Amino acid sequence: MGTITQRSVADILDIRRRHLNPNLSVSYQQPLKIVKGSGQYLFDDKGNRFLDMVNNVCHVGHCHPRVVAAGVEQMGKLNTNTRYLHDGLAEYALRLTAQFPDPLEVCFFACTGTEANDLAIRLAAAATGGDQLICVDHAYHGHSPTLIEISPYKHNGSGGAGAPDHVHTVPVPDLYRGLYRENDKTAGQRYAQHVQQVCESLSVSGKRLSAFFCESLLGCGGQIVLPPDYLRTAYQAVRRHGGVCVADEVQVGFGRVGKHAWAFELQDVVPDIVTLGKPIGNGHPMSAVITTRKIADAFMNGMEYFNTFGGNPVSCAIGLAVLDVIEEEQLQQHALETGNVLLSRLRELERRHELIGDVRGEGLFIGIELVSDRQIREPDAAGADKVVELMRHRDILLSTDGPDHNVIKIKPPMTFSIEDAEWFLSEFGAVLDEIY
Ligand SMILES: Cc1ncc(COP(=O)(O)O)c(C=O)c1O
Repeated sequence: MGTITQRSVADILDIRRRHLNPNLSVSYQQPLKIVKGSGQYLFDDKGNRFLDMVNNVCHVGHCHPRVVAAGVEQMGKLNTNTRYLHDGLAEYALRLTAQFPDPLEVCFFACTGTEANDLAIRLAAAATGGDQLICVDHAYHGHSPTLIEISPYKHNGSGGAGAPDHVHTVPVPDLYRGLYRENDKTAGQRYAQHVQQVCESLSVSGKRLSAFFCESLLGCGGQIVLPPDYLRTAYQAVRRHGGVCVADEVQVGFGRVGKHAWAFELQDVVPDIVTLGKPIGNGHPMSAVITTRKIADAFMNGMEYFNTFGGNPVSCAIGLAVLDVIEEEQLQQHALETGNVLLSRLRELERRHELIGDVRGEGLFIGIELVSDRQIREPDAAGADKVVELMRHRDILLSTDGPDHNVIKIKPPMTFSIEDAEWFLSEFGAVLDEIY
């Protein structure tokens, strides 16, 4: 192994200040130097153990021995690209596409969620001949210039320049804070009507729709569960107007939502293109796009899609090991059971604590929205930050998000247990008592 000098927190911060991308943030007021991970736990340089409730990338647990062994073994044998025939690539393509409903049967391999979504934009353009895109407010789809254009989270945030003319933003289908709320049984359809309106106005102006991008549960938008009928109604409108529907499963795929392998299944729809990332390689940088034969064929215009690292033998070995572990350890069922316990206990806390405005989620993808006034649903970003900092000092790692920065996000490795949930709930309750 290359020599790595052990440095103090202050020294590392100093080197970051001098030599690293200056707009890179560090978590927590008192930053952590993490040196080891195992399962759902992280360990700092002093040997303290932290419960990781943030990392949905290390999906089957940090440094899962099976995944590590698969990577090491393949790295010691061969790592090339997809222009040679390799059993690993064939096996992985078969196993991954088998996880999807018909007619999703063709996969493309890439390395990051951004690459997957960029490719989805190109596939959609090839299949539809259109260039107009619809995205949901506050969404994040990636960091390339093209994806910042369909990521209101970025282009409407600090340093952003707003949406370009070919991007059309529809309201967040948020039942707690949005245009139509929890007591409106038709909210999903009413939110979807905004998608339909965009489609109709594009038709009127003679512009061609390419794709509707939507995360199957909204992450940066504040852990939003889509209301019933939203995607079904929106997809119908998009398809009627010649567009394709892209489900971004980069945050929520691979069984995290418990009831299904893919979160779009919660809405009883089949997208035309699905993008996968983060959990797919348990921390190894890989991603994929799954689509139909028809769309894949439409992309055959003579220009090859070649991705140097996408689908390499090491990535395929790791991806296969992740699928094996999800299956063998029944992590999807585990996410359902643990998530249900967590959700119901959080809802009990919500009844006792005025500052919890809303608790929502599916499986191990949960949001707790904090408010300073329940009646007017006044967002409490300062309170949410305080909770995260206090929990960090109780060895539990959390993060916040949402348009008002007041939603505490819960998306731990899928090995997160009932005992972990109990530990979190007791510390979280104590922190709320301390603050309010
Ligand atoms: C929903 C969603 N899509 C895409 C991306 C981009 O993935 P990556 O950071 O791997 O490029 C992210 C990253 O946070 C994301 O949350």
